[in-house]
Amino acid sequence: MSSTKNLISFDELESGHPLFINTDERPDWPSVFGNDHPLKLEIGFGNGRFLIELALQRQESNFIGLDFYHKGIRKSVTRLGKLMINNARICYGDAREKVPILFQAGELSEIFINFPDPWPKKRHIKRRLIKPDFVRLLATLLESGGSLHLATDCEPYAREMIVYLEEEPLLKNKSGETQFFHERDDVPKTKYENYFIRNGHTIYYTSFTKK
Ligand SMILES: C[S@@+](CC[C@H](N)C(=O)[O-])C[C@H]1O[C@@H](n2cnc3c(N)ncnc32)[C@H](O)[C@@H]1O
Repeated sequence: MSSTKNLISFDELESGHPLFINTDERPDWPSVFGNDHPLKLEIGFGNGRFLIELALQRQESNFIGLDFYHKGIRKSVTRLGKLMINNARICYGDAREKVPILFQAGELSEIFINFPDPWPKKRHIKRRLIKPDFVRLLATLLESGGSLHLATDCEPYAREMIVYLEEEPLLKNKSGETQFFHERDDVPKTKYENYFIRNGHTIYYTSFTKK
């Protein structure tokens, strides 16, 4: 297990930190960032590797990471601080509860959901994050022409989510007739993605655009 001794504590974050947000009210994002650059959301950022690398690569955009995994949050805030990254913030909470609070319709230019928990057992399938109502919510929050990107190595989950995505009238599959692509090189790799690639798993990537 990796050490946590040099990480900022969750109590310190909760008592107020400029990179950390735990709120039940919608922030005014341009005021938070001091500019109105395009706003991008990653749901379930895990250890924050993808979010941090993307924020470094795309300085002209603002990034929000949303997760409820304390250690990942502590790691990500600590690293963002060390690297003096100003165009990313870490939000705490369950995406189902927080996404409708944090953003308004048309506010997001991109949404990334990388390797959401697959809940492979039949009796747990209902716990999966990607469901029709959630897809509708995400589509509503995207600006016209904005993109929703998903990745999973769990084929049954991929096949379930593609049905909801294809059925959502606000969205259009960027790859046309091809439902999935199996390589993605325009964004950083996540921790889980690297693990799955090393172990020879097929990865199901999809990208949808808001009509
Ligand atoms: C399998 S991990 C993938 C982490 C990272 N995206 C990666 O690819 O390395 C799933 C992540 O989603 C987070 N997560 C699961 N359900 C969530 C929810 N309802 N709201 C916010 N985060 C969630 C978990 O805490 C975990 O960090």
